[in-house]
Amino acid sequence: MERTLLLIKPDAVQRGLMGVIISRVEQRGLRMIGMKLMRVSRTLAETHYSIHQGKPFYDKLIGYITSAPVVAIAWQGNRAVAVVRQVLGATDPTAASPGTVRGDYGIDIGRNLTHGSDSIENGQAEVKLWFTADELLDWERIGEEWVFET
Ligand code: RTP
Ligand code: MG
Repeated sequence: MERTLLLIKPDAVQRGLMGVIISRVEQRGLRMIGMKLMRVSRTLAETHYSIHQGKPFYDKLIGYITSAPVVAIAWQGNRAVAVVRQVLGATDPTAASPGTVRGDYGIDIGRNLTHGSDSIENGQAEVKLWFTADELLDWERIGEEWVFET
């Protein structure tokens, strides 16, 4: 089954939005398989955002993600990657639709509250990067047959 990484970034933690962000994904029907509140090391930030190295916003992005605690969450379920990206909305909050996390709570692109893996391969890789095997839980959630057809 698909896995994806959701990061609740420092601005969302500071603004007390952890609960509403988790609720939106939880209520959509994905199963949480790992969650932790953590400070992001420079090494982890640079590995996670290596694709953006050299871009004009890179240094500010590393500063932002390492500036205060984040919540990292691993989700599993059918279409998990696309569902989380849809719940979060477009990268630039002013382009994000109302009803999305960024569209409802964000303004600046450098304070866009969340990260969601952008492909099935990156979902698998980012969950492995952010969680050790024993931090991930294999469990059955009741009623999943009412969310997933198979
Ligand atoms: P994310 O990786 O955080 O889920 O966001 P994304 O895929 O929608 O956007 P991405 O292109 O991967 O950019 C990663 C993060 O870098 C910051 N950013 N700033 N100032 C800028 O032009 C700019 N562009 C991107 C955002 O925090 C974005 O989420
Ligand atoms: Mg991205």
